[in-house]
Amino acid sequence: MKIDEIVQLKDAALREAAAAPDAQALEEVRIKYLGRKGMLPEIMKGLKDLDPANRPVAGQKANELKNELTDLVTERKAEFESAGSQSSPGEFDATLPGQWHRLGSRHPITQITERITEIFHNLGFTVAEGPDIETVYHNFDALNTPEDHPSRDMQDTFYLENGDLLRCHTSPVQVRYMETHKPPVRIIAPGRCYRRDTPDATHSANFHQVEGLYIDKDVSLADLKGDLSYFAQQLMGPDVKIRFRPHFFPFTEPSVEVDFTCHVCHGKGCRVCKNSGWIEILGAGMVDPNVFKAVGYDEYDVTGYAFGMGIERIAMILFGIQDIRHLYENDVRFLAQFG
Ligand code: PHE
Repeated sequence: MKIDEIVQLKDAALREAAAAPDAQALEEVRIKYLGRKGMLPEIMKGLKDLDPANRPVAGQKANELKNELTDLVTERKAEFESAGSQSSPGEFDATLPGQWHRLGSRHPITQITERITEIFHNLGFTVAEGPDIETVYHNFDALNTPEDHPSRDMQDTFYLENGDLLRCHTSPVQVRYMETHKPPVRIIAPGRCYRRDTPDATHSANFHQVEGLYIDKDVSLADLKGDLSYFAQQLMGPDVKIRFRPHFFPFTEPSVEVDFTCHVCHGKGCRVCKNSGWIEILGAGMVDPNVFKAVGYDEYDVTGYAFGMGIERIAMILFGIQDIRHLYENDVRFLAQFG
């Protein structure tokens, strides 16, 4: 190949590289000229056939082709890469599939907490909060819990070195709220609780409760039953019935456990409710006068009811979750089912 042919080829190569519309076209130009089977190796091979006097200049021109084209390709490649993410208007292709963004969703525990809060909000309750780290006084003493009550045991409650503890229920929020507010009181208190339970399908050392407290003149067990019936129907559907079973809690007298008719068989009896037709949902009762005394309320002037329920348990029932541990593993395959 003659010298001026090499120069022309160089011009052509540079022109083609400059005109390449995208990275792929640019790469094709590079391969055409500089690739192993491209034109430059061809020229190099041909140098030996040239008149020896012309060889140095021809070699020099061939090198110019190589260097200038390499530089231009490098430069333009960088341009394409930096422009890659922001497609220029001319390159926008409206027929391409859109980019898919995975949507997040609220955690089932959050969903149930918000639902419970909403239902009680309709009844005039507001939300109160208290600390996870509690004093023995707020968690037990003020709640009329005797010195030898098993729940105080080191085996059941997490104690800190300074003598405080991780609350084992949300009931201390009752105490804190009454200490700082005069009656009437109408609060619910959702929050985390801690117990030294060995994790299994239905137990976790860290779980959630919603506490409820309603205090005024002449609040009775009938108010508790009416409000919880409303709650049950809002949560589970209009056919749900509730029943009270006598129970004991240190901080309520009388105390009850509250069952809802089974959400699976609607009370007929099935495997889930162990053929009883009922599912235990929460603990409740009339606030014990000793609790009123502890917070400085006049126990002859006011009465009230309190209740506490486990959020996980309700989430598991409503969503059909078989193992409580799913709720804490944050596996997206699990969480994505509750969007
Ligand atoms: N604190 C009780 C528990 O954790 C529930 C409860 C709350 C019972 C309020 C009665 C009144 O089991």
